[in-house]
Amino acid sequence: MSPLLEAVDLRRHYRVRTGRGPFGTKALLRAVDGVSLQLSAGRTLGLVGESGCGKSTTGKLVLGLIPPSAGTVRYGGGDMPATGSSAWRALRRRIQMVFQDPLGALDRRLPVGVQIMEPLAIHSEQAPAERRERARAVMDAVGLQGHQFDRYPHELSGGQRQRVVLARALITEPDLLVCDEPISALDVSIQAQVVNLLLDLQERLGIAYLFISHDLKVVRQVSHDVAVMYLGRIVEQGEAESLFAEPAHPYTRALVSAIPSVGERRERLLLQGDPPNPVDVPAGCAFHTRCPFAVAACRSQTPPLRARPDGRLVACLRADEPALEAAA
Ligand SMILES: Nc1ncnc2c1ncn2[C@@H]1O[C@H](COP(=O)(O)OP(=O)(O)O)[C@@H](O)[C@H]1O
Ligand SMILES: [Mg+2]
Repeated sequence: MSPLLEAVDLRRHYRVRTGRGPFGTKALLRAVDGVSLQLSAGRTLGLVGESGCGKSTTGKLVLGLIPPSAGTVRYGGGDMPATGSSAWRALRRRIQMVFQDPLGALDRRLPVGVQIMEPLAIHSEQAPAERRERARAVMDAVGLQGHQFDRYPHELSGGQRQRVVLARALITEPDLLVCDEPISALDVSIQAQVVNLLLDLQERLGIAYLFISHDLKVVRQVSHDVAVMYLGRIVEQGEAESLFAEPAHPYTRALVSAIPSVGERRERLLLQGDPPNPVDVPAGCAFHTRCPFAVAACRSQTPPLRARPDGRLVACLRADEPALEAAA
């Protein structure tokens, strides 16, 4: 059976100016540089990594919101139609999105109920009364009350607004939801509610999620599988539970060791500094400048993303060494 979503060697490069003044030089920024993903129906793939590593760009590529510089996205076994084409718009019913900032995603001048119905106006021939009924049903599903239909976004709390965005995404009955930092802008007390809602909706409706977040703790709660990105590439990918229990890539080890309550039980591996500038990615393994285990070979050889016998994918030259010793 083909997966619901398959991305093969996706790349998205941007020409950017670097340096100062009118004569700044042009450089190539590899926002996404060879990402392959698979996601099956009803499952959640978590996509993690520090800010700027290419998570949102990957999400937009998967949604067809931006075309790839290279590589393909396949959906339900077929190629993603060209961005903006009528076939693409039809497919967009099946793939919806939820972004970080619900207020930014909503129109301040329209009642939320009208906005929840909006995708139906674009995607279906249903009568207005039918749409209204459907909107009330999804509002109920996400825990909003009927009387909130006529409220404006600023009259709702942040958590309620994110429920509105979710209701709007769900109204076309999608198979896949791309959630890009869906709870990062919410109060901590509300975050758990929205996470539980997402889990509950998946169980009831069988929706697959591409769950993008820099917050590993949340990704751990929701994901069946996890892909870890660093500077535009996946450096480790695997089944969530085993990946968090035994991260193999030094970068994943560092991220996991920084999760409170998980990290405490393990070695502490602190990441030095920020990720390098993505227009000037270090040669060899892009992580070598921050890796405590880097040896000479890591500065010249780019490690391929290789599958271990247990299915885990790891891009590290030293990943097979049983006890990885810090380099001198
Ligand atoms: N439209 C664009 N033009 C130029 N650079 C971009 C554009 N979109 C994203 N980038 C760059 O691509 C890299 C990845 O960005 P993004 O996918 O937003 O990362 P993340 O979501 O992981 O924080 C960043 O360095 C960002 O500045
Ligand atoms: Mg982002």
